[in-house]
Amino acid sequence: MGSNPRTVPAPMIVEDWDQLTFRVNREAYRNAEIFARERGWVWMHTWLYLGHETEIPNPNDFKVRTLGGRPLIFCRDSAGEVHAFLNSCPHRGTVLCRENEGSTRLFQCFYHAWTFRNNGELAAIPDAGAYESSEEFGASMGLRSVPRLEIHEGFVFVAFDPDVPPLLEYLGDAADYMTMIEQQHVGGMTTLPGTQLYSVRGNWKLAVENAMDGYHFAPTHNTFVGYLRESGYAVTDDNQYAYNLGNGHGLLVLTGHGGRISMLWEPRFGEDERVRTEAHRAEMTQRLGEKRAHHVADESHILFVFPNLLLFDIEGLSIRQLEPVAPDQTDVRAWQLVPREEDPDTRALRMKTVVSFVGPGGLATPDDIEAYEAVQRGIQATAGTVQPELDYSDMSRGMADEVKGVQGRSIDEGAMRGFWRQWVEAIGLDDGLEIHGERPASFLAGRDVR
Ligand code: FES
Ligand SMILES: [Fe+2]
Repeated sequence: MGSNPRTVPAPMIVEDWDQLTFRVNREAYRNAEIFARERGWVWMHTWLYLGHETEIPNPNDFKVRTLGGRPLIFCRDSAGEVHAFLNSCPHRGTVLCRENEGSTRLFQCFYHAWTFRNNGELAAIPDAGAYESSEEFGASMGLRSVPRLEIHEGFVFVAFDPDVPPLLEYLGDAADYMTMIEQQHVGGMTTLPGTQLYSVRGNWKLAVENAMDGYHFAPTHNTFVGYLRESGYAVTDDNQYAYNLGNGHGLLVLTGHGGRISMLWEPRFGEDERVRTEAHRAEMTQRLGEKRAHHVADESHILFVFPNLLLFDIEGLSIRQLEPVAPDQTDVRAWQLVPREEDPDTRALRMKTVVSFVGPGGLATPDDIEAYEAVQRGIQATAGTVQPELDYSDMSRGMADEVKGVQGRSIDEGAMRGFWRQWVEAIGLDDGLEIHGERPASFLAGRDVR
């Protein structure tokens, strides 16, 4: 990184198979050079989640969004094709679209009034004759598309590096869990209008850890756990597992808490909903087969797609996108994904349930944000070089099972370790990872969900 002295300590991760410990250097959460590496290596060279196709359902719809600090226009052109353009005027760089969302055939720059079609072509330059051979010139002055854009089950991903592998290859086993989401309802899923947007005073990786961390559920969310118990639901940690899906993607499979709107009934949803759920469940079994319907309907899934997408497929379905702003600051954007066609009472119950738990003001999310902001504040205690060996966080839980080849539990830290191993590779530090002893064959064996 230029001629500045390096500020990243080595190693960032110490994995010790003799001691069964996994330690993450806390500089990962606060170091400016690490943050710059994340921007330059991770956000520049991997697929990133941009948004859901149903956020721009009609021709000429657009939204603006920022990924890795780069302003983008996410739009559907007049012919219905989805695009992602750099939100920057090819003339002198001005942000072109200054509204958050809307519908337009043309984007006009306010600075010198160049105008562009929503398929990226330059439409007009005031006083075009002032440019020599203006046709050729015009052809070179279209909007800059993001080099790669691919869509899987409505989830739109982009990459700033033209050489990334095909999206499906990158998603690997995570892809099928996105298909399972689309299969929940015969008419498919759509996002509800509106974005929940909030800012967290913590490093983005703490949000990933928090989502892949079943260990914190009972202590951190004890208000919610108590409410579930009182409303007739037995909360348990049994039969809940964590999976590394490869490429840093992670999955928690949960069966021990929370019902699933329209798929898995529980008393707090009420008797009318029981009848509707049973009918829907019968339709699913017929459409998908007993086994697939079971995995789609009865299990909650928390899916992390490296590096910036979280799908909370639990009671309802929340999409969360992480946008790192600074080492100690993260913007979170969230949307609700719902069945396109749904009984109005079920939809109302869904919204109530979702906002009461996973929404920004629900019983869970403020607890989680408090937790990761508290980590961000607390890790200052060991910052500096006086006792560098103390400046590590421990993520060893469940390593003994990993050695034995036993499937990791959601209350262990195996899914986090999968994330961190990918992360340390992705930031391009040769000496980032130190391994002692012999790493066992991964417990990653895939799941048979078909
Ligand atoms: S910078 Fe956009 S028209 Fe000049
Ligand atoms: Fe939580």
